[in-house]
Amino acid sequence: MNTKIYGTGSCVPEQVVTNDDLSKTLDTSDEWIRTRTGIERRHIAKGSETASMLAVKAARKALENAKMQPNEIEAILVATTSGDYTFPNTASIVQAELGAENAACFDISAACTGFIYAFSVANAYIMSGMYKKVLVIGAEVMSSLVDWTDRSVCVLFGDGAGAVVLGESETGRHITRLHSNGGKGQVLTAGGLKKEYIKMDGQEVFRFAVKKVPESIEEVLQETGVSREEIKYFILHQANVRIIEAVAKRLGLPMDKFPVNLREYGNTSAASIPILLDELNRGEKLQTGDKLILSGFGAGLSWGSTLIQW
Ligand code: UT7
Repeated sequence: MNTKIYGTGSCVPEQVVTNDDLSKTLDTSDEWIRTRTGIERRHIAKGSETASMLAVKAARKALENAKMQPNEIEAILVATTSGDYTFPNTASIVQAELGAENAACFDISAACTGFIYAFSVANAYIMSGMYKKVLVIGAEVMSSLVDWTDRSVCVLFGDGAGAVVLGESETGRHITRLHSNGGKGQVLTAGGLKKEYIKMDGQEVFRFAVKKVPESIEEVLQETGVSREEIKYFILHQANVRIIEAVAKRLGLPMDKFPVNLREYGNTSAASIPILLDELNRGEKLQTGDKLILSGFGAGLSWGSTLIQW
């Protein structure tokens, strides 16, 4: 038995905040943000808009795309660090809104690597025979975690959600390798007893990403015996276009194998990979049999890659 993605969906808030908008209240500029990160705009939740609301909309689209009903879903996993409440978990709120009464529900906290972690859990459930259909969602309202007066952080992030329906299949293929280094956890933090905003040593995170992401991609390729040329797309967490370019360079591959959408959304943390996957799917860029590598990295520090077959 193997696994396959049956449907994808995504949702971002309607409100758009451009670099120029930010430069009206912060000592920053469109030029600085674009050249250092590749980001031009981000979608930001308004007032009472929550991670679960974005997640529900993304999930409905994924179910529709998969031609499945909510009551067929046996587990809902939400990767998030900006969920609606400490408890109940965001997955349970999504369950209630969808009417997915047969699903077990829980959230996974692995920051920007969260979707890869959640996806690997869903895959393991299906491979073991425990569940047949699992909804995996990355949903974030990162705007609630940033200090909007801290130009070194707030310009980077955006809000959104992406969802996939994972199910069993005779033909699919999937291998994941996950890693963490808690010893470096302090380079990227949020919350804690003082409920602090995101604090980040940007350069340290940058160096970590450009070293560990290619290593983890190589690891997955070696384990599967698939060559890098056989991979149609490398769908990387969308944090900074310079990180993606550096990874492509280290792997000796052209940038057209590395789709980028962060200019529109910024860094949506756990949501960035499924949002990009949904755009590729809906843009009819994916054909049955295509091999893809999804790769995440972020707070923890955590990182991981998964090879899937479309
Ligand atoms: O999802 C995973 C989480 N995060 C990441 O992946 C982020 C990884 N890191 C990065 O993407 C980059 O390190 C940043 C985009 C965060 C920063 O880029 P950088 O090239 O490393 O810039 P820097 O931190 O070295 O800052 C350079 C200068 C500094 O000024 P001085 O000290 O040279 O005078 C900063 O104060 O740019 C200044 N600066 C800004 N200037 C205008 C920092 N933020 C801004 C800003 N606008 N928004």
